[in-house]
Formats: sequence, structure tokens, C-alpha cells
Amino acid sequence: MIYDVIVVGGGIAGLMAAIEAKDEQNRVALITKGNLFKSNSSMASGGINAVLDINNSKEINQHINDTFNSAKGIGNKKAITYMCKQASSIIDKLVDYGVEFDRDENKKILQRPFGGGNSNRTCYVGDKTGSAITMALIKKAKSKGITFLPNTFILNLAKYQDRVSGVIALNKENSQVTIYASKAVVLAGGGYAGIYRGYSTNAPDYTGDLLAVALRAGLDLKDMEFVQFHPTGFVKTNYLVTEAARGEGGYLVNSEGLRFINELGTRDEVARAILKEQLEGKKVFIDLRHLGIEKIQQKLPSLYNAALNQSGINIAEELLEIKPVAHYTMGGVDVNMTSCDIKGLYVCGEMASNGVHGANRLGGNSLLEGCVFGNLAGITAKEYANTNEFSPINYNTVVKDIEMIEYIFQGDTTKNFNAIRISLGKCLFEKVGIIKNEKSLTEAFDYVKYLRQISYSLHCINKEKNNNVELSAILELRNALEISEAIILCAQKRDESRGAHFREDFPFISKHFDRSFVVKELKKGFFRISFKENELLRKFRNLFINKE
Ligand code: SIN
Repeated sequence: MIYDVIVVGGGIAGLMAAIEAKDEQNRVALITKGNLFKSNSSMASGGINAVLDINNSKEINQHINDTFNSAKGIGNKKAITYMCKQASSIIDKLVDYGVEFDRDENKKILQRPFGGGNSNRTCYVGDKTGSAITMALIKKAKSKGITFLPNTFILNLAKYQDRVSGVIALNKENSQVTIYASKAVVLAGGGYAGIYRGYSTNAPDYTGDLLAVALRAGLDLKDMEFVQFHPTGFVKTNYLVTEAARGEGGYLVNSEGLRFINELGTRDEVARAILKEQLEGKKVFIDLRHLGIEKIQQKLPSLYNAALNQSGINIAEELLEIKPVAHYTMGGVDVNMTSCDIKGLYVCGEMASNGVHGANRLGGNSLLEGCVFGNLAGITAKEYANTNEFSPINYNTVVKDIEMIEYIFQGDTTKNFNAIRISLGKCLFEKVGIIKNEKSLTEAFDYVKYLRQISYSLHCINKEKNNNVELSAILELRNALEISEAIILCAQKRDESRGAHFREDFPFISKHFDRSFVVKELKKGFFRISFKENELLRKFRNLFINKE
């Protein structure tokens, strides 16, 4: 199958990229591993940040500064500035595509405060902003004639020298390996917080598959140790209690009835404060009772229903117990805006590390980043496809993938891979979680290494080729283990605390670590970690060299 542009990922970054990449002549396909309506974007409920008045440079600069400060010294000013300046036109585009943001009586888009920000700049659709945007983008993509290829699991990139030539994929419906040739490819497959299985707001199939694909293709992963824990999830089901609940005035109280933290601090601060209470044996609740039923049903209707249905709690009258949960991952494929070392390949959304979030992401900036950089990736991919020919396919890689799938179908297994996935999630949460130390990281590393070894001897018990969920589970587990190792290696190297990365044995930020770590796979299973200088250091060095 041949396309001019292939986009992988059905969240807002992927949808935006596909829409921008499509014109009347070209063929654009959007590939998703599962159901299009089930992305993390559609779960990001609270809102999208934007300064709406493009002439208000003071407020735009404030958005830039808040984002840069939140990145804690490893943010990329160019990418942040681009994103904040594009925000207003992206909101206009979304409105044009049919997103009905909440408005006041004068039809002005309403904006609410979010944590770590200095202004009310979060535009919203009640508490279902992500799903409202996703639905509008799906409609738009369908109307533009984009081909949707759901249930398609990407195994590897097809490359020819330093150019992309397509993707190698598994059709989940019949377990066939297929090559999709294309001139340009956009990867927008989301982050890896789902590997904290059982302790994450993400769907469990967010296992970092495309990051593992990128590693295998020779690309670097950057800032992998920065995993964001959202302060508020349901205790039993991990359902996200949107930050909008605190933005609208909700309190956090402990079991003694005391407030213990500024609810609108940055997510890392609030998550750590909650964990501290819990470690002291106290429970933590969100208190929304003072908002009143009318405001709750108007501003937080999804939360109201979910609390009632999942926990039997009426939030207008009762406290709702919460806990911090893995929510978002700042690390990803090292890119310059959306470009990387492979020509014709663009990476955007949560799986990209373009430096917009650095060590910590501001709430409300993820939907914005997905839209802005998805848009940019679509534009650049189209330009590339218009000016380049198809590259040859290296069929050796395809054959290897076919053999790998056959091997997983052959043979028997005594291991329960679902139990392995669950225990990996628990290990990561407890040892590579909100608070880490050298001992916990070493234990996690040894465990992940052990699991990686046994993951290569896993086989499908069910040999049926049609819709074999075991096959996807094994492939996801292998990818998740590669990514887990990358997270742990970076966390072990970073002997300091910065943003979402907190080491109790090194509780302070250190100038020495004002840079990012990048992970490269040297050969199958062997990673190299190195420093990447941050912008300021690089500029300073170049200045020095130029003077000489
Ligand atoms: C939320 O509504 O709290 C999630 C949105 C985000 O992570 O930016």
C-alpha cells in the first residue's frame, strides 16, 4: 500500500498532522493501534492554554515565561515561544473545525486558571475539552478524505540510508505483516505513562511502542526520566480528576480536614505533598462541596457522573478520595521542533521531546502542544512529500519482522504475561515513581533486566491468527520493557531533583545537570546514555568558538 504521507497516532497531534498534510491530490493515511476514539488526548479534560489576543504581548510573554519556568532549566525557548505565539490561531482553527468552547454571555471564550500559571488562560469545553477537540478533528479528517487504518500495530520503520521509506505494521485482525510505503511519515503515537499499569490515567496500551520503534531506528530518546504524576486520580480506578476541579476552586484536604498545599502549585509539588500525607498514614480528598451543585454540573459534569458511577460519591455533598497517578511523559524522541535525523520523518505530540515541557509540563499545555506541533508536522511532511520521491524499501527488515511474529506464534510459554505487565507497573510506581532513590532505582533496573530476558521467550498460548490479543500484549510488553530501562537509566544518572524527577538522596537541583540525557540503542538491548547540552550552553560555546 502506498501513500504520500502516513501519520501514526489518532490523538490530536496525529489528527492535526493528517489534516494539514492532506490536499486534493495526495494520499494520506492515519494509522492507529486501536480505536480512534480512545486516545489520551480525548481524556485530557480540563482545557487548552492560549492567550487569545495576539496583540497582548505582555500575556503571551507571561505564557512563555510560565512554560519556560516550569521546564526547570531544560526547556527549549525557541519551541516554547513558537507554541505560545501559535496558540491563538490554533484556537481559531479549532473553532473553525467545530469545537464549541464554553463562552460568556457576550460570546467571548471563557478561560479558567490551571496550576503553575499566572493567568486564566485555559480555554475549555466543560470538563471534556480533549474529547470535544478529538471529535471535531476526526470529523474534519473524514471530510478531507484521509484513509483511516485502525487496528494496525507499527513494528518498525522502513528506512533507506538516512531517509524514511514507510512503516512495517502488523494487521491485528489477521496477524499479517504489511509494508506501507510512503514518502513522509509523521509519528504521533502518544507517551509512555501507560506502562505504570494500574497507577496511571492512561489507557494500558500506551506502552511507548513508537518510542521503542524510534530507538530501533537509531533515533535518540531524550529526558526519559521526567514522568509527570497528576495529583488527582480516583483511588480505585485511576480515573482523572481534572485539574479544572482545582481551577474552579476545589480544595485538597487530608483526613484531619486540613488543607496542606496550594492547590494550584505545579503538578510535581502538589503530587509530592499528597504522597507525603499518604505516607504519614493520612487519606487525601478533593473537596468540591462549596462550589454547589449548579456550578459542578455546569463546569465539571463528567467528573460528577464518574464519581457517582465509579465510586458512589456525590461530589456536591461528599469528599472524594484521590491519589496521584502517572499521567504524562515529558521524555520522547529528540527532535528539533518536529524534525529528526531521518529525512522525511517527523515526530510530534507527547512522544516527541522538543523541549517545550522540559522537566515538568504545565497543565493545559499538552493539548496545545499536540495541536501546534501536529499542525507543523503535517505542513512539513506535506512539503517533503511534494518535493521528494519514494525511497526504496529494505525488505530484510520486513522479513525479520515476519520471522519475529512467526516465532511468537510457535512454541509454548509457561509465563503469565498479564501478570508480568501488572507487576512491571507496580515496580515502576513504587521504585521509579514520585520519589526515587539510588536503591529503589537499582532494584527496578535489575527487575526490568530480568523481565526483558524472559520477554524474549514469550509465545502466544492461543494460536488463532484473527484478533489475537496475546500477540499485541507480548509486543507491547517488549516495548514497555525497553522504555522502562531507558527511564531508569536516565533517572539513575540524574543525581539531583528537578521538576517531575525527585530523588530523595539528592533533593536539590544542581547546575551540573542543566542539560538533558539522551539514550541511544547501540545494538539490540544495549543502550548508551550521554549528555546533550542545553541551548544556553551551546550558544555560549558557539560564541566562544566564533570569537577564536
Ligand atoms: C486535566 O484536565 O487535568 C488534564 C489536562 C492536562 O493534563 O493538561
